Amino acid sequence: MIAIDGPTASGKGTVASRVAGQLGWHLLDSGALYRLTALACLEQGIAADDVGRAAAAAQALDVRFGDGTVAMSGRDVSADIRREDVGSLASQVATLAPVRAALLERQRAFRAAPGLVADGRDMGTVVFPDADLKIFLVASAEARAQRRYKQLIEKGFSANLLTLLRDLEARDARDTQRALAPLAAAHDALVLDSSHLTIDETVAQVMAWWHERWHQRAASRGA
Ligand code: CDP
Ligand code: CDP
Repeated sequence: MIAIDGPTASGKGTVASRVAGQLGWHLLDSGALYRLTALACLEQGIAADDVGRAAAAAQALDVRFGDGTVAMSGRDVSADIRREDVGSLASQVATLAPVRAALLERQRAFRAAPGLVADGRDMGTVVFPDADLKIFLVASAEARAQRRYKQLIEKGFSANLLTLLRDLEARDARDTQRALAPLAAAHDALVLDSSHLTIDETVAQVMAWWHERWHQRAASRGA
C-alpha cells in the first residue's frame, strides 16, 4: 500500500497513476470522490453548509471508475469533476465530518491484491495509516498554479493564472486549517518537493523509495 498526499496540483494524481501502472497495482483517486460529492450537490441544489443532505449525497454516490474515466449514475462526468468550481466546492464539503465518514469505507474498499496506490490529503494519516510507504508531495504555489493553468488550457478550458494562484492558495488554507483530517504529512511520510522535478524524475524517486522499503522488509523478514 502506497499513500501519496499533498496540496492541489502538486502532481499526486499523475504520479500515483504512473506508479500504479509500473507496479500493476490498483489506483484510488480519493479527491474524485469529494469532487463527485460536490458535483452531486451542485446538480441537486444542495448548499455547501447543508450537512445532512451533502452527507446523504456522498452516501448515495453511484460511481464507476474506468480507465481514466469516472461515471456517476451511468453518466461520464470525467470532465465535469475537473472544473474549478467543482474543486472549490469539493474542498468545502470535505470539511464536513458526516461527508468524510460517508466516504471512509468506500475508500478503504479499494485496497486489494496485489496492491493499491492512493492519492489525496489524508491517505497516510487517516484512511490508510498502516500504508507501507507514505509520500508527502509538495511544490511551490507558483509551480502548481502554472501546472494547473497549462492543464486547463490543454483541456480547452479558459483560465487566468492569477485567479488560479489565488484560488489555489485559498484551497490550501482551507485544506490545511480544517479541524478534520487536515492536509498534513504523516509523521512517517517522506517529503518530496517536485517544484523543480519533471514527472519522470518524481515517479523515479517514488519507485526508488518503494524498492528500498521492499528490500528493507525482505531483509528484516529473513533476519
Ligand atoms: O493530483 P494533483 O492535483 O496533485 O496534480 P496533477 O493533476 O497530477 O498534476 C497537475 C499538473 O501538473 C498535470 O498536468 C501534471 O502533468 C503536471 N505536473 C508537472 O508538470 N510536473 C510534475 N512534476 C508533476 C505534475
Ligand atoms: O486535484 P486537486 O489536488 O486539486 O484536488 P483533489 O485531490 O481532486 O481534491 C479536491 C478536494 O477534495 C481537495 O481540495 C480537498 O479539500 C478534498 N479532499 C480531501 O479532503 N481529502 C482527500 N483525501 C482528497 C480530497
